[in-house]
Amino acid sequence: MHKDIKNVLVSEKEIESIVNTLAKQIEKDYNGREFIMLGLLKGSIVFMAELMKNINLDFVIDFMVASSYGGETETSGIVKIKKDISVSASGKDILIVEDIIDSGVTLDFIVKHLKSKNAKSVKICTLFDKPRRRLTNIKPDYSGITIPDEFIVGYGLDYNEKYRNLPYVGILKDEAINKISI
Ligand code: IMP
Ligand code: MG
Repeated sequence: MHKDIKNVLVSEKEIESIVNTLAKQIEKDYNGREFIMLGLLKGSIVFMAELMKNINLDFVIDFMVASSYGGETETSGIVKIKKDISVSASGKDILIVEDIIDSGVTLDFIVKHLKSKNAKSVKICTLFDKPRRRLTNIKPDYSGITIPDEFIVGYGLDYNEKYRNLPYVGILKDEAINKISI
């Protein structure tokens, strides 16, 4: 285990089985439809890579970059689109792939943004969900696992851009938070 991790919340094996279950649901629901799998960078990359390999359908992938966090563990409430969808959203079924829903502010903004581009449908698939911290009405259509109100890292999720490469998800030791990074 990484020296900065206090405890593992969801193991590599557990995540693998959760991702497989989500992939099978999506495969069933999107069978016969042409859809865009839209990952939100950077947090979704590990999840999306694993998810897409397990969906035996034809689909297009794309990415958006949005941010509401400025290196802190709380949302700033302001969402900025740093990179927009690069294929046409008009008339398309879009499945957003997100690492975690916290306040829901980011997704609320992105869903509205895609609908304003006349997407046919916009659905959300998140690996982790913290529903107790929700500030919007956003609800995932596909949700891997509900987690308690704790800041987690690993499997794509970062703290100050670190720990995304951990194959599991864990909670940081207190001394690793706010530590001046080199
Ligand atoms: P929201 O707009 O508050 O729902 O924030 C969603 C984004 O915040 C996610 O895509 C993550 O990038 C980040 N985030 C929320 N909770 C955590 C966490 O526990 N660990 C790491 N990143 C988080
Ligand atoms: Mg994110």
